[in-house]
Amino acid sequence: MNLKVDETIGHIRDVISDRDKKRGILIHTFQKVQHEMNYLPEESLKMISEKLDIPMSEVYSTASFYKQFYFTPRGDKIVKVCTGTACHVRGAKDVLTQLEDEFNVKEGETTEDLSMTLETVGCIGCCGLAPVATVNEDIVGEIDMKKMEAIIESIKK
Ligand code: FES
Repeated sequence: MNLKVDETIGHIRDVISDRDKKRGILIHTFQKVQHEMNYLPEESLKMISEKLDIPMSEVYSTASFYKQFYFTPRGDKIVKVCTGTACHVRGAKDVLTQLEDEFNVKEGETTEDLSMTLETVGCIGCCGLAPVATVNEDIVGEIDMKKMEAIIESIKK
């Protein structure tokens, strides 16, 4: 029985190539850097390339393959306005416009002081609470004037 397990593990080792291992290490490293810095600065990519002895082109192409990694600074607060159908019908555009006007940014942009990045997102599964937005990990539903003020206040803190 143990012999079979050893054989299987040996086979898995063969299947996982060095390339796969390096890719796994790369992604883990990107996640750590982004957790610390909020994005992947160019210098960090160069450093990763040198330390792991992986060509810069491969480091960059791996990072850019995944949507979760960013190459420009992001805001302390990531605000995502849901623009799914239910939220659209119940005023998502107004929510987005108010935030754009208040912070002088457009969708996809980050404020100069890095306090906020404004994005849109498809349905996040809380359609009954439309219109909905997320502020980092928090979901804010049934956004009215009062809740919009609270969102704005939390970003300005
Ligand atoms: S459409 Fe916005 S939560 Fe579903």
